[in-house]
Amino acid sequence: MRKPIIAGNWKMYKSVKESVDFAKQLNEKLKGIVDREIVIAPTFLAASSVIDALRFSNIRVATQDAHWENEGAYTSGISPAFLKELGVKFAILGHSEKRQYDNETDERVNRKLKNVLRNDLKAIVCVGETLQERESGKTENIIESQVKGCFEGIGLGDLSNIVIAYEPVWAIGTGKNATPEQANEVHAFIRGLIAKKYNAEAAGNIRLQYGGSVKPENIKQLMAQPDIDGALVGGASLKIDSFEALVKF
Ligand code: PGA
Repeated sequence: MRKPIIAGNWKMYKSVKESVDFAKQLNEKLKGIVDREIVIAPTFLAASSVIDALRFSNIRVATQDAHWENEGAYTSGISPAFLKELGVKFAILGHSEKRQYDNETDERVNRKLKNVLRNDLKAIVCVGETLQERESGKTENIIESQVKGCFEGIGLGDLSNIVIAYEPVWAIGTGKNATPEQANEVHAFIRGLIAKKYNAEAAGNIRLQYGGSVKPENIKQLMAQPDIDGALVGGASLKIDSFEALVKF
């Protein structure tokens, strides 16, 4: 059985103080929920304070990136070893905004993924096609090459620490979400890629999140799809009532 995983990506929203206040409120609302995993990804700056505010909580803290090295001359780099020391549990890697604005590549995501896993953190690896790629019928090619690139050299034993988020770029922050069927079709395709590269059991166990304009109004239908195991949510994760509703879908 794949445990549902609902994650809020706060992007560059919420100051440290706002993040801590928000996390405390969420903690009250989401207390005692154990049948699904709850993850929030505040700004790096707030990771430490949010973790302090969430001691003994069922809410786990993620960061929105992590470096491929643990230390070195990498100005502005965020070491997964340092994140581990803070109590961070997950790193989101390969988000389309990183790909778009920071020239993130599959090769770099792959190196980051390996280092995140070496540090006993879990990863949410994001893949997804642009509108142009979808309209020209290239969705599967793009997803296949992203999964291939990001998972190069990743062993079977690491898969239980990885979640794949399918986030069609055209659906992120646009209000245009993929239909549950469209999303599920790509999820099933990704599961097939994992089956081919690893085996059927691994494909059956890996958790796949959908992301892109997920809201309280559409999460139920998305989660009802057989290959959708969770959601990676941006905009709708920034309000208490809305994130509470998403987690309690
Ligand atoms: P959105 O963002 O929910 O605002 O579309 C999703 C994401 O970027 O992970």
